[in-house]
Amino acid sequence: MAKYLITGGAGFIGSHFCRMALKQNWCESLVNIDALTYAGNLHNLKEIQADPRYRFVHLDLNSGDVDSIVKETEPDVIIHFAAESHVDRSIEDPGLFLKTNIIGTFNLLNAAKNLQTSKKGLRFVMVSTDEVYGSLEATGQFFEETPFAPRSPYSVSKASADMLATAYHHTFNLQTMVVRCSNNYGPNQFPEKLIPQSIIFALQDRSIPVYGKGTNVRDWIYVEDFVAGIQTVIARGKSGEAYNFGGRSECSNIEVVEMILASLKKPSSLIQFVKDRKGHDFRYSMNFDKAERELNWRPTVKFETGLKETIKWYQSNLVWWEAITSGEYLKFYERNYGEKLVLKGRS
Ligand code: NAD
Ligand code: TYD
Repeated sequence: MAKYLITGGAGFIGSHFCRMALKQNWCESLVNIDALTYAGNLHNLKEIQADPRYRFVHLDLNSGDVDSIVKETEPDVIIHFAAESHVDRSIEDPGLFLKTNIIGTFNLLNAAKNLQTSKKGLRFVMVSTDEVYGSLEATGQFFEETPFAPRSPYSVSKASADMLATAYHHTFNLQTMVVRCSNNYGPNQFPEKLIPQSIIFALQDRSIPVYGKGTNVRDWIYVEDFVAGIQTVIARGKSGEAYNFGGRSECSNIEVVEMILASLKKPSSLIQFVKDRKGHDFRYSMNFDKAERELNWRPTVKFETGLKETIKWYQSNLVWWEAITSGEYLKFYERNYGEKLVLKGRS
């Protein structure tokens, strides 16, 4: 069995990956490197923290000694989730995104390249995103061959990291595989993203900000489906290749928010249309025929079902999110969207 080293395991997708990898015995051991930024939360890993196969390393990929940890751990597989992940924050502070997402990835790739001289067969999975392809109008899909056209500081930084990983395959013979996925949702997602934020604000009777007219479209995938997809890439993916993943669940933002409000029996009057995001990508849509054909992977969770599960999770995990929502991130909203997100009808 393989030794896994993952980065960003205290975040949303990374923590699901850590828990599932140990539960399903995908690996013999798992080391999780995470800087614990605002988005990293060790509560996400409570279930596994005492597991003898698991080790947490508190390290910043930008400045820490990544090389030593990689050398000491001698992983068979590195799965690189760590990133600054929120588009709105990348508009406010692009430099941090370039640093973490490009230089952080570069530091990790170098450490993998160094380890490779003694560890043949090392595999590196780069967790990229559909946003590298840019924005679609009402029709069309992204294929693995679609030329990159990133339009936000976030997506540019991810496109650079994605290309860097493949460059290390061509130049240094490192076995890299890239996974590009559409919007994930599910438990443990930091409440600044559309779905958890809308659920929490609805539960609090707070107004729910929807950018522009709410007509922008995303293809939603339940986080466990993506995590399972990553494991199929580790098991069957080919070095130097990229694989698209999507949920086959395209919805406009206003549809998503309306579904959440209906499920919680809250009024549509909570919706507050705010000014649009700068450079807002209109639509993403993934073609994942390659993953179906070559990895025998497909999404299994219907959007309605996954959304209900997610709503239930936030309803029963108040302690997890109340600490977060009282803090810095609401101020972030007020700074960037100029709107006070008022509490409606709650004393
Ligand atoms: P997240 O923001 O929830 O978690 C990111 C994690 O990375 C946090 O635990 C944070 O502490 C850690 N981190 C940040 N900077 C670091 C640094 N310098 N050194 C070490 N650790 C650091 O993100 P997520 O939503 O779980 O996304 C994980 C990955 O998946 C990212 O690479 C993201 O670009 C990609 N992705 C996300 C989505 C999505 O919908 N969430 C979709 C496609 C791709
Ligand atoms: P988000 O969850 O930030 O993911 P991404 O920007 O990576 O797709 O946003 C999903 C969609 O929801 C996107 O079109 C922006 C929109 N959105 C809102 O309308 N209001 C909000 O408060 C947020 C966070 C997002």
